[in-house]
Amino acid sequence: MKINEMIARMVLDSRGNPTVECEMHNSYTGVRAIVPSGKSTGKHEAVELRDKKSSFNGMGVEKAVKNINKIIKKNIINKDWEQETLDNFLIKLDNTENKSRLGANAILAVSMAFARLNAMSKNDELFFYLQKITGNKKISLPIPFCNVINGGVHAGNDLMMQEFMIVPKAGSFKENTRIISETYHELKRIIRKKYGKNAVNVGDEGGFAPPIETAEEALDLLMKAIINSKHKSQLRIAMDCAASDFYKKGKYEIEKNSYVSAEELGNYYIKLIKKYPIVSIEDPFAEDDFEAWNKFMEKINKRNIQVVGDDLLVSNKKRIEEAAEKKLCNGLLLKPNQIGTVTEAIEAAKSAMKNNWNVMVSHRSGETEDTFICDLAVALNCKQIKIGAPCRGERTCKFNRLLRIEELI
Ligand code: PGA
Ligand code: ZN
Repeated sequence: MKINEMIARMVLDSRGNPTVECEMHNSYTGVRAIVPSGKSTGKHEAVELRDKKSSFNGMGVEKAVKNINKIIKKNIINKDWEQETLDNFLIKLDNTENKSRLGANAILAVSMAFARLNAMSKNDELFFYLQKITGNKKISLPIPFCNVINGGVHAGNDLMMQEFMIVPKAGSFKENTRIISETYHELKRIIRKKYGKNAVNVGDEGGFAPPIETAEEALDLLMKAIINSKHKSQLRIAMDCAASDFYKKGKYEIEKNSYVSAEELGNYYIKLIKKYPIVSIEDPFAEDDFEAWNKFMEKINKRNIQVVGDDLLVSNKKRIEEAAEKKLCNGLLLKPNQIGTVTEAIEAAKSAMKNNWNVMVSHRSGETEDTFICDLAVALNCKQIKIGAPCRGERTCKFNRLLRIEELI
């Protein structure tokens, strides 16, 4: 497909920070794509180019936008591309290991816009277009892993672990959405009663951020909401510890000023797993603490627990293959902007699946109204997605896109 015209611009993400939008046209139609932005980012992620000037507190994307409008555009318009040839060309044009020249935020905006434009031009839904690229025979709606209590760098409380999620298992996305919404509102009532009305303000991903300090307090609140809302048979629990953020000089600060070793932390997780219906733990250890990951995997081998690598893997095929070989985890958190092109994101998922891992597609804490990841999760047939709480437009648009897709397939 040929691109006739394109323009990039700065738009805002859900935290009010600049991010990159790419608008792309051919003779048939036009589309837009916006990239999200993380806050608890892995240090091995592809580079998100920021201007580092005084405007927007150093968060400007003028340079990334310029890279699209001045460098990428003249190299790609009026030529015939497929997704893979375009993405490979963009990787070569950048010509760095971590996309630091053009910026992963610039490259991904172009890659996503091209996917959307190509799909539209073929009169296809985006998920059908992406399905063809994956070569998958089957597609399916994912289970939403719904982050209802926020801590870590996403919230203004002293809870070290970042995300406490409810995981429904009803037969349809619509039913799962109902269960999540009802439980979310019950949780709100419980938190308001216990901690007062200021405690129901929400964190970056729409979950509540009550003034609690321990994982157990968060899990007890979740259990109460699950039981009160009468969804105990339909809900399980997942956590994203984002442990790189509380790893300091070889120790883990699991509560304010309380440090433990990796082994103690592993035993603590096992205690939690025994007490609560936890099915999945993401980033239980720091991104380069391979030994801790491996020992934990050995210990929980017999239990049916999903151990997901986010900062550990950064959606990067090389890190995924290394982690598989060293037996560090059994699940991939897939964030397209960690790697920078649609093609590489799909390759990362395939490489995880080849190792019999699960794949969970994920939003970022700084999101936008773009719903690309929903179509990606459906196309990958990976059955899991993280889209935050059923609250705030940048999260609900993902629920709503998936509700619409469910009607289509
Ligand atoms: P981030 O957090 O988008 O701030 O990196 C999400 C996550 O850790 O899964
Ligand atoms: Zn994470």
